[in-house]
Amino acid sequence: MNKPKVYIARPMPEEVEMYIRQHCEVIEKDPGKSGKEAFFAAIAEAEGLLTSGTKIDAVLLDHAPKLRVVSNHSVGYNNYDVKEMAARGVIGTHTPKVLDDTVADLIIGLMLSAARRIPELDRLVRNGGWMKGPDEPLYGWDVHHQTVGIIGMGRIGAQVAKRAKLGFDMDVLYFNRSRNEQAEAQYGATYCTMDELLTRSDFVVVMTPLTPETEKLLGKEQFAKMKKSAFFINASRGAVVDEEALVEALQTGLIRGAGLDVFTVEPLPADHPLTKLDNAVLLPHIGSATAKTRFDMAMLAAKNLVEGVYGRKPPYVVPELAHLI
Ligand code: DGY
Repeated sequence: MNKPKVYIARPMPEEVEMYIRQHCEVIEKDPGKSGKEAFFAAIAEAEGLLTSGTKIDAVLLDHAPKLRVVSNHSVGYNNYDVKEMAARGVIGTHTPKVLDDTVADLIIGLMLSAARRIPELDRLVRNGGWMKGPDEPLYGWDVHHQTVGIIGMGRIGAQVAKRAKLGFDMDVLYFNRSRNEQAEAQYGATYCTMDELLTRSDFVVVMTPLTPETEKLLGKEQFAKMKKSAFFINASRGAVVDEEALVEALQTGLIRGAGLDVFTVEPLPADHPLTKLDNAVLLPHIGSATAKTRFDMAMLAAKNLVEGVYGRKPPYVVPELAHLI
């Protein structure tokens, strides 16, 4: 029996690639072609595509008429045009759960880095700016015993709540489409309105997926409602925030600082206004980027792919396309 053909659009750990090759024929790119032309030629015969972040839209799907499954190497799947995929019967999968703890760790890291000014003061030491004498200019702000407001209390949000409550004695507020009773019972999280969360939180953490409803969820109006002493933390997707409004809020002292792992345009251009601000901690989208977690995500993406091309139920089909199986 011929193995189903798949295209792997991002480098995979050797063990994961071997697993895919055991079950599938991996299409190689034509070295004579480059860029989009090479990609479209490669997916012309593909029944499965393993990728992360590639826009799966009508144009791509027109070039891949045999596609049955797209496997994202990420939990976020805002790159999927789910309507187009549904119309053509193409399943989309993603890699939830295996990254929850890792992303939550990073969010706490961003809170600490922004509040205690860790990257800024690291730069000061390296640049010879550490002087003898009063150290008030180096003071930051506490994280422990403060209030964190989590927008989007899904699995990762709950892990942030756990760390905040049990590790830092923080009060946890949250805003979500629906109540998360487990987070309420286990971490004392209090469900509240968005306005309440914005006005009461010392740290506003946005952890909602990017959808048409959440695009620019946070803008000028929302930053104006936050405390002047508050920090804004984003490790979900850049586009859930109006970035211009965020820059202005940071420049004008509407809020005290930010910790950002995601941006509207990635990689963030080096001359972006955010890069000029000492009160913004900036990371290159590394929420899930530890060796173990990225391996686990790769293996899960591979299993989703293989199950999908064999017409079996992949472990994690995105909810909007679950009706296709
Ligand atoms: C995801 O998986 O969507 C994360 O953003 C990766 O860090």
